[in-house]
Amino acid sequence: MTALVIYDSVFGNTEKIALAIGDALRAKEAVSVLKVEQATVDDMMEAALLVVGSPTRAFQPTPEIKKLLGSIPRNGLKGVKVAAFDTRAEIETVGSAVLTFFVKLFGYAAEPIAKQLQRKGGQLVAPPEGFFITDTEGPLKEGELERAARWASGLMTG
Ligand SMILES: Cc1cc2nc3c(=O)[nH]c(=O)nc-3n(C[C@H](O)[C@H](O)[C@H](O)COP(=O)(O)O)c2cc1C
Repeated sequence: MTALVIYDSVFGNTEKIALAIGDALRAKEAVSVLKVEQATVDDMMEAALLVVGSPTRAFQPTPEIKKLLGSIPRNGLKGVKVAAFDTRAEIETVGSAVLTFFVKLFGYAAEPIAKQLQRKGGQLVAPPEGFFITDTEGPLKEGELERAARWASGLMTG
């Protein structure tokens, strides 16, 4: 089985999570971890397991991730197991009632990524997951790399 982890990252935090996911998957299978600009639609369609992650920017994935997902042909992910993750701010830490309101309304990047992967025919093997940063540019909250590795291990049995 070959797994492909595709991610975008502005400040490097989502990249760290993607690499931790790749390392955890590598225990069981061949894995490539690619930044969004390096990924091709053919790679995605050929993977047995496709994991896509993005920083949450204005409640959504980055434009680059959205563009890549949008370019997958109809049913292009048929037979591909898929999962989605994001990095995000912890609303309790930010402590803003306004932000809490909008987050409840619009959510995070992982959900729309998972929906799009499914819409393209992929079989979702785990609920979308978010990993927390302590500030806009990071660092990640303590323990998140380990949590990402555990989440990734669960994808192989899903
Ligand atoms: C322009 C901008 C918009 C953001 N919007 C959100 C948001 O809607 N929800 C959220 O939880 N975090 C938001 N954040 C925080 C990002 O999620 C955070 O910068 C990102 O997780 C860091 O990942 P990276 O290091 O891979 O870029 C935003 C940050 C920026 C700079």
